[in-house]
Amino acid sequence: MLRSRKFLKILSCAITVAIIVLILQMKEEHVRDKFLILQEEYEQEDIKQEQLVDLHNFQYRINSKLCKKFDRELLGVMIVTSYVGHDELRSAHRQAISQTKLNEMGLIRVFLLAEIPPRETFINQKQIEDEQRKFGDLVQGNFLEAYRNLTYKHVMGLKWAVTECPKAKFLIKIDDDSVFDIFFIKSYLETLELRDSVKNFMAGYILDNKKPIRVSASKWFVSLDEYGGDAYPDYLSGWLYLTNQRVARNLVKESQHARFFWIDDTFVTGILRDSIAVPLIRLNNWFSANSEFFDCCVRDLKDHSYECEFYVGPNGGDNKLLIEFVHEVEKCYFDECVKRSPEMGLRQTCVAKVKNLVSDHGKALVRAVPIR
Ligand SMILES: *[C@@H]1O[C@H](CO)[C@@H](O)[C@H](O)[C@H]1NC(C)=O
Repeated sequence: MLRSRKFLKILSCAITVAIIVLILQMKEEHVRDKFLILQEEYEQEDIKQEQLVDLHNFQYRINSKLCKKFDRELLGVMIVTSYVGHDELRSAHRQAISQTKLNEMGLIRVFLLAEIPPRETFINQKQIEDEQRKFGDLVQGNFLEAYRNLTYKHVMGLKWAVTECPKAKFLIKIDDDSVFDIFFIKSYLETLELRDSVKNFMAGYILDNKKPIRVSASKWFVSLDEYGGDAYPDYLSGWLYLTNQRVARNLVKESQHARFFWIDDTFVTGILRDSIAVPLIRLNNWFSANSEFFDCCVRDLKDHSYECEFYVGPNGGDNKLLIEFVHEVEKCYFDECVKRSPEMGLRQTCVAKVKNLVSDHGKALVRAVPIR
């Protein structure tokens, strides 16, 4: 009698424990399932092929197969926003450094174009298609070329890198009228490769606390309806910035829900980035807004093999500057360059020449101001 009561006690205890364990397990599984479903939803929410910000009939008019053809992992993909009529400028980029040489460095380069606007009389679609047959490095979207459409082009570049070139760890976004030291950028990315290619990463020239231009006569006038705040979130100069696949993917996803804003750098690296809470890394000391400094760097590299103090800037309307600069700085990566002494700094030695600031899409105007 006593033994069977004891047995019953033990049995009920065991059953209770079993039930508790079962309940806990079910609950945990439920939580896990829910988590998996949420995560899947987020993954699947994913990038819609035919959507580009608020456009719902987006297509590539011309696509590039360069990345698909590449059979190895890539360190980075260079996405260069280029006005469709800037064929000479694209040619300068290719002369500065060839696709083959970039591939050897673990990089590939594509140019981002839009449709030829009606007023453009210097280039036609057939010429663009010939250019593509020859180089295969063009990506053209089916929206019209316009400075108020630069946001589409910029997001198209991120989208292309994420969906057509996921084997590239990093993205290098560049304006076609920028001058930049690709060797320096490559070695910088290599130092990050193991550490930062999976985490959030976004770096460049930070513009902080910039306010919308509210003067209605300005080309850069922003109405309260377009942007209501009195300052933009911190954003990066579009001359050149660096990011990785993870951030680019989340920016593109975020753009599918965001309200369109036409100043592309502010929209992508400011507004969208802010809403996915990605911090910015400051590389401001890489940049100079004086294209004359790059002229001087070319001269001093030729004459004395002096290293340049800056790695990114505008070409100041001189399409050939990039070619000379890239050709000259390369030797510094074979330890053939000399550091500048403080009294030989560019600010002390570079006599500015007067130059016309030519700018088709007007970006230089807005950017030349904050960068010194
Ligand atoms: C931007 O592109 C769209 C789609 O092609 C076009 O309808 C619109 O007119 C363009 N915007 C400007 C300002 O040209």
